[in-house]
Amino acid sequence: MSERLLGLVVAAGGGIDRRLAAELAEPARDRGIRLAITLTPTAHRWLASAGQLDRLAALTDLPVRSASRLPGEPRPHPDPAVFLFAPATANSLAKLALGIADNQALTVLGQAVGDPAVTVLVRPQADDAQRGHPAFTVNLATLREAGVLVSDATWTDAWTPLLDEVAAAAGWTAP
Ligand SMILES: Cc1cc2nc3c(=O)[nH]c(=O)nc-3n(C[C@H](O)[C@H](O)[C@H](O)COP(=O)(O)O)c2cc1C
Repeated sequence: MSERLLGLVVAAGGGIDRRLAAELAEPARDRGIRLAITLTPTAHRWLASAGQLDRLAALTDLPVRSASRLPGEPRPHPDPAVFLFAPATANSLAKLALGIADNQALTVLGQAVGDPAVTVLVRPQADDAQRGHPAFTVNLATLREAGVLVSDATWTDAWTPLLDEVAAAAGWTAP
C-alpha cells in the first residue's frame, strides 16, 4: 500500500484544544495515516496554552509546523497530495479564497488550492454572525469553483468522519 500522507491544517476554531487530537489526529494515526500538521499562529498559541502540542507531536514523525522556514533551511514536510483544513475559521477561509498567504498554514493551503493535482477538503466552522457576513458565502463559492471540497456541518458534528471523506476523495482503499 502506498503511503497515506495527509496535510492537516488547523485554524483557531473553538474546541481545538479538546477535539483536535481526540477526533482527528489520533484517529488518523490509528488508520495508518502519516500527518503533516500545520497550525495557524493563533491555533498554535491556543494548543500550546492547552498543553496539546506534545500530544500532537507524538502522533507523527514530521514536525508540527506553524512558523515558516528560513530560506536556507530544508522543507520540513513532504508535499501531501491531500489536505484537510479543519476546523477552518471564517478568517482563514476568507484569506484562502483571496489567496492571502500571510502565515505558513495559508501558504501551504494556497499552493494546494492552486495545484489541480492536490485534493483539499475543508470543514468550515463559523457562527451565524460570521456566516451572515456577505463575504462568507462568496468565499466558499470561490473555493468550490477552484475545486475545493467543502464539508459543512454544525458545531457539534463529529470531526472523525472527515477522515472517511478524505479517504474517499483521495481514493485510499481500506487497509
Ligand atoms: C474561544 C474562541 C472560539 C472561536 N471559535 C471560532 C470558530 O469556531 N470559528 C471562527 O471562524 N472563529 C472563531 N473564533 C475567532 C477566531 O479565533 C479569530 O477570528 C482568529 O483571528 C482566527 O485566526 P486564524 O484563522 O488565523 O486561525 C474564536 C475565538 C475564540 C476566542
